[in-house]
Amino acid sequence: MNFLNPLKNRSVLLGITGGVAAYKSVELARRLYDEEASVVTIMTEASRHFITPLSLEVASRNRVYTSLWEDPLAHIRLPKEADITVIAPATANLIAKFSQGIADDLLSTCLLSCSSKKVIIAPAMNWRMYENPAVQRNLSQLTSQGVILVGPEQGSLACGEEGTGRMAGVPEIIDAIRSALTKKDLVGERIVVTAGPTREYLDPVRFISNRSSGKMGYALAAAARDRGAVVTLISGPTSLQPPAGVRYIPVETAAAMFAAVTGETARAATMLVMAAAVADFSPETRAETKLGKKDMPQLKLRMTDDIIAAVASSPGRPFIVGFAAETGRDLDRARQKMRDKQMDMIVFNDVAEPGAGFDVDTNRVVIIDRSGEQGTELMSKNSVAHAIFDRVREIKA
Ligand code: CTP
Repeated sequence: MNFLNPLKNRSVLLGITGGVAAYKSVELARRLYDEEASVVTIMTEASRHFITPLSLEVASRNRVYTSLWEDPLAHIRLPKEADITVIAPATANLIAKFSQGIADDLLSTCLLSCSSKKVIIAPAMNWRMYENPAVQRNLSQLTSQGVILVGPEQGSLACGEEGTGRMAGVPEIIDAIRSALTKKDLVGERIVVTAGPTREYLDPVRFISNRSSGKMGYALAAAARDRGAVVTLISGPTSLQPPAGVRYIPVETAAAMFAAVTGETARAATMLVMAAAVADFSPETRAETKLGKKDMPQLKLRMTDDIIAAVASSPGRPFIVGFAAETGRDLDRARQKMRDKQMDMIVFNDVAEPGAGFDVDTNRVVIIDRSGEQGTELMSKNSVAHAIFDRVREIKA
């Protein structure tokens, strides 16, 4: 299936300024290279007190520029050739120069010939500097011009103090780059995504659950957000951070997920993506206090209410995408589920296959809808999420 990683073959102009966090930029360059982006780096003089151009040259396998004078037209050519410019770390000094239009070295001069909407900055500084009204004023000036801000985060700072000023993590910066480079073809969609397992309690400490890390659902929520949709993520318990910019509703039980999904889809949702591993059975009774060994109950179970089926039979129902996690390549079973529950699409995956099951970052699926089927290769859950929305777009077109 022909899906394009938004970072593949894109060119990133990476600007590094003088902060301790500069060491993380080596990893950022390396990760971008791994994602098949091409990275050209500009290092300011101050940044070279922290890391060397050679580290960046090795990490990006590409050229590193350090002076305005080594190529007289680089300040026009480099921004023109770049799909996006990323400044990480961005010091208070760089932020001030950028917001005022000062061009006194290669990086600040390049920023004058970039479209603001194609610049991401990841500030990093002491919390007092970050809170300073001058820095805040400069940052609002830049965001009002369309510059994308990622971080800073709260935490322990290089100076030993605690506060807001840490540079955003490399995964968050990559996420921001991916988002900025993604086509916005889901604008106008209001998508409810479910993720993770549910817990069905026997008593306050014991529960029945399903194996599910939530990774596929979280990747779907982030991909839909990147493509411009308004996203609500309803999630059972996972160890994942909810994606930024997504409305997040944590739930525990199948009943709570049922209430949240039916409530949210009734609020003009255009699509429901049920990636959650909802428990099919729940104990008939839940003990108020912890059961002792002596009281070991005969488990009496009842079926949970089917969430997809309820939404599918509601008036003005949204487009419904379900998941069939099977052990074995039982596509017929998935096709049958799609028909029985009146889904518009079902995403089949064989959880017994290496690299496609629980807890891993990759998946291989078959996307089944009323008019056909498409299999993907084994790829990142982010890429699988985009492949699913690509197909949804084709069907809805
Ligand atoms: N699902 C749901 N409500 C439930 C159980 C499941 O909406 N109470 C959704 C899942 O999120 C998934 C789809 O239904 O998108 C298929 O779930 P699955 O458990 O595989 O299918 P079942 O119909 O429950 O069939 P079985 O357990 O017999 O395989």
